[in-house]
Amino acid sequence: MLDVSGTRLLVLSALALLNACAGNGAGLDANGQPLGSGSAPPPPLTADFQSIQDNVFTPICVRCHGGAGAPQGLELDAAHSYALLVGVPSNEQSGLLRIKPGAPDSSYLVLKLEGAAGIVGVQMPFGGPPLPQSTIDVIRQWISDGAANSPAAAAVSSAAFAVTAISPAQEATVAAPLTRMVVAFNHELDASLVNDTTVHLEHLLGEAAEPAGPFGAELAEGNPRVLLITPRRALAAGRYRLTLRGNGGGALADVDARVLGDDYTREFTVDTTP
Ligand code: HEC
Repeated sequence: MLDVSGTRLLVLSALALLNACAGNGAGLDANGQPLGSGSAPPPPLTADFQSIQDNVFTPICVRCHGGAGAPQGLELDAAHSYALLVGVPSNEQSGLLRIKPGAPDSSYLVLKLEGAAGIVGVQMPFGGPPLPQSTIDVIRQWISDGAANSPAAAAVSSAAFAVTAISPAQEATVAAPLTRMVVAFNHELDASLVNDTTVHLEHLLGEAAEPAGPFGAELAEGNPRVLLITPRRALAAGRYRLTLRGNGGGALADVDARVLGDDYTREFTVDTTP
């Protein structure tokens, strides 16, 4: 028994090797990655968000762009990527959105994937190889079509209104100056409820805390489930706490007046730039 399966395994991996080395693109998927390297390969790349997540972001980007230490606070795992990309300004080029619905040429993510002139830092994926243009073209098409979330995720869920992601993450350390915080919800937020009693930003000094100064708050363009919080003066080195009030009168609620129910708190450190 053991021998037989051992032999089969050998044969299979030899085949996989042959395929991967064919040199003409055969045996490679849409991203130039060898076929058969994962257990259940996702369906081929199409111009919708779920497909781009499964074929590009998850297999290629998440190993760097994951967790509290993700570069530029950009987490690209399935739980965070849409909220942190669509309508959210780039950290490197704050005049550009990471993805601007309808406008691939002014979406910073596309410029980074194409290694366009004027990007800060290097072409993505960092260290290469670059994505094939055919893959980038599918991402361009999805953005041209409006950069919608996939139908399943976009459907208004009957689930209780909740926060799904906050950047910076709890206990993250980010480089000074911090210009923006991002809060993602599972439903569209009623922006009229955002004020300095429902959204608190504090500078922590030992046991004490003082307000971190005035900030602006707006919904991300084309992505009304995401709130962008922009301090009037970028946050200098220090420790900060962001609190969202989901209880009591005037608490944060979605557009159907379902209140958040819980308070959410994140504490993080802004580090001096070397
Ligand atoms: C090997 C690690 C690594 C991989 C893999 C990687 N990145 Fe990055 N990414 C970085 C680093 C480091 C930076 C910041 C420095 C820079 O831009 O050169 C960055 C920056 C970015 C930025 C700029 C964010 C902003 O707010 O300005 C984007 C967009 C980006 N990456 C997208 C991607 C995408 C999409 C992929 C997958 C196709 C990817 N990256 C794969 C390491 C990586």
